Amino acid sequence: MSVVYITTPIYYVNGAPHLGHLYTTVAADAFARWHRLAGNEVRFLTGTDEHGQKVEKSAREAGITPQAQADKNSALFRDLFVSLDISNDDFIRTTEERHKRVVTEVWQRMEANGDLYLGKYEGWYSQGDEAYFDEGELVDGRAPSGHPVTWMVEESWFFRLSKYADRLKAHLEAHPEFLRPETRFNEVMRFIEQGLNDISVSRTNFTWGIPVPGQPGHVIYVWVDALTNYISALGGPGAPDFEKFWPKVVHFLGKDIIRFHAVFWPCFLMSAGLPLPERLFAHGWWTVDGQKMGKSFGNAIAPDRLAGLHGHDALRYFLLREGVFGSDCTYSDKAFADRVNGDLANDWGNLASRTLGMLAKYEGGVVPERGEADREDDGVRATYEGARANLIQAMDELAFQRALGAVWELVHVANKYVDTTAPWVLARDPARKARLREVLYTLCEALRIVGIWSLPFLPEKAATLLDRLGVPTDARTLAHTATWGRLAPGTRTQPGDGLFPRIEKVVETTVEAPKSNAPKAPPPKAMTAPTAAAPEGLVRFEDFARLTLKTARVLTAERHPNADRLLVLGLDAGEDAPRTVCAGIAQAYAPEALVGQTVVLLANLEPRKIRGIASNGMLLAAGEGETLRLVTVPGDLPPGTSIG
Ligand code: ME8
Ligand code: MG
Repeated sequence: MSVVYITTPIYYVNGAPHLGHLYTTVAADAFARWHRLAGNEVRFLTGTDEHGQKVEKSAREAGITPQAQADKNSALFRDLFVSLDISNDDFIRTTEERHKRVVTEVWQRMEANGDLYLGKYEGWYSQGDEAYFDEGELVDGRAPSGHPVTWMVEESWFFRLSKYADRLKAHLEAHPEFLRPETRFNEVMRFIEQGLNDISVSRTNFTWGIPVPGQPGHVIYVWVDALTNYISALGGPGAPDFEKFWPKVVHFLGKDIIRFHAVFWPCFLMSAGLPLPERLFAHGWWTVDGQKMGKSFGNAIAPDRLAGLHGHDALRYFLLREGVFGSDCTYSDKAFADRVNGDLANDWGNLASRTLGMLAKYEGGVVPERGEADREDDGVRATYEGARANLIQAMDELAFQRALGAVWELVHVANKYVDTTAPWVLARDPARKARLREVLYTLCEALRIVGIWSLPFLPEKAATLLDRLGVPTDARTLAHTATWGRLAPGTRTQPGDGLFPRIEKVVETTVEAPKSNAPKAPPPKAMTAPTAAAPEGLVRFEDFARLTLKTARVLTAERHPNADRLLVLGLDAGEDAPRTVCAGIAQAYAPEALVGQTVVLLANLEPRKIRGIASNGMLLAAGEGETLRLVTVPGDLPPGTSIG
């Protein structure tokens, strides 16, 4: 067992949290959960950065005290993280006494080391960044971040950053893993090689901060204050938690604050005589229409809107799967819906529901003894072995997208295995019982492993899945996925509803076809148009493969009570329970004529209410009105046989 300390930046309280803040926190949370799954001792810290001119100013504009402003907005972050089930062990606020005490101590250590001196500061100050910039760093008269700058002159304490340039460079050369991605590491190296200038570390033009010891009128620069949170939350130098967790840390941050973390922070620590953090990871920005998402830019997406609509696991998944951790990512509603519908509803959710559904149907919901193995099983086992190695390596590199890709390797192969082994066919032949059992066991075992591996990313849904699968809580560890076949035969399982509903603008429609010469109504504006840039008129194979077509036997048929053209059919589609489908075929068929026919069902269509009756699927037919004919197949094909 090892010890891991995981931190996020502490967020400014001059505004409400947005998707960007949540991103870092969700990534750090997945990493924390991963390490707990691996049996490591984890301390996971997040919090809020509450001092400084920005907060003082936004409080003044709101007509409240800075403390009241900080209390209000800090609570927004804290509540958001609670509502999203973020598993932080601590939440630090820089206005807490435990923090101020350690900042004062760090200042005194730097001073005792001869690294602080009083001088005069002149320069371009950006309030948005809480930082000074050299003339040469300005872009079109603004800070590189785009924030405006003003010329400022103040008496100030300075920190001898210049003194530490060589030591920092040597440290980075000896620890290439100090900062990832590698491009960021190289940028920081080049910056240090230019030589470092001393920096101003006190302010006199506002008062909302921690006082400089023995120097009335000066408050400590907000970045000295803020960065120290990472050790004040451990109780500061000498405290038991500090001894235990420092410096075994992974600092998560956005690329906007690399210089503070990779240059200033280690130099402050060297000056204070403390060890340097082991690992920093700087991720990219979420952008909207090509611009960084941010509160100053007015384009921030409120995370609770997305989480409220679709559940927090869907949001977590989207954030970590959509882009490479380290590069910029683009937000759009469509990208979000595509991820949820494709990866979660179709792949992951479907594997869960069909496996548990078939187990309920064929084995009374009890995991069977292993039966008769076949070559098809080897593919699943081999994929599991490869996925496991890929997952572990990706998580070690904080490559969340690749890690999820590894989990989905197993999801995909298991779904394919359902199609090729066709358990519903095996179930019809008593001589193949042993084969059916092996197939069901293989699927349940794959699902158990997928469930455990998904826990860091989909904590709620993966836990529900493992509950349904009857996996005991103490068996939900990474070690329990180190070998194949640990799912105990005899385990009782429960089927349940789909874990990830599809995102779709559900439109109340009838199935009446438009007259062929009538102008076509525009398709409803759903969030789920295919992503493919296929040539006009052609679809890609993958688009076709997303449709589940199968045979279904008509068990019952009656007229729809509220629509003349509709029949309401009860269908056996080889599933746990019959389905209801409303079909616009009443002009062509008398209800009695249909019972016993085997028809073709589009089975994975979003259920919808048609004139008050829930319809779950669609039947293939040719023609219209009285000349409409259903596509039928020979009756010796059992219900549920897949078509493709
Ligand atoms: O910088 N995309 O706080 P802050 C991705 N208080 N991540 C984003 C983002 C975006 N569009 N916008 C924000 C501060 N973030 C200081 C930190 S730490 C000792 C002090 C995330 O409220 C990302 O992690 O401006 C970024 O680094 C952080 O929020 C900045 O939050
Ligand atoms: Mg910022």
